[in-house]
Amino acid sequence: MAYTDPHDPRWEPLIEAAWEARSRAYAPYSGFKVGAAVLLQDGRLQAGCNVENASYGGAICAERGAICAAVAAGLRPGDLEALVVVTEAPDLTPPCGFCRQVLAEFAEDLPVLLANRSGRALHRLQELLPHAFTGRNLSQS
Ligand code: THU
Repeated sequence: MAYTDPHDPRWEPLIEAAWEARSRAYAPYSGFKVGAAVLLQDGRLQAGCNVENASYGGAICAERGAICAAVAAGLRPGDLEALVVVTEAPDLTPPCGFCRQVLAEFAEDLPVLLANRSGRALHRLQELLPHAFTGRNLSQS
């Protein structure tokens, strides 16, 4: 069944995993802690947090951390079911452009739930990154 309702109880384990990962975020430079969790179609769940670096450009977002860990555990394109991103920011935190592009590598479209302590909003990757550049474009050179 599609994830079309932000209050669907199936989100709860993902939200919980994302908050737990956020508690381990390494963000000494920005102080902006992010947690993420992806659900694979086989039911496995992988969380991630942002990991910053003294060389600021070396920072890795929570979403990409979750994706990279999931790939190491076997994730391949088409296997992604859903993503959750959590922060304590008053405005819900959407994935950055880099992360949208990385997500598009693994999912044509994806339900993306953004949550903070007081609310949530459900988006779709195709809405966040319309007309994504993909491997299909590369094969048309
Ligand atoms: N960050 C994420 O982890 N995910 C997002 O969706 C937005 C930004 C991180 C990167 C950096 O460590 C900090 O938040 C501030 O940009």
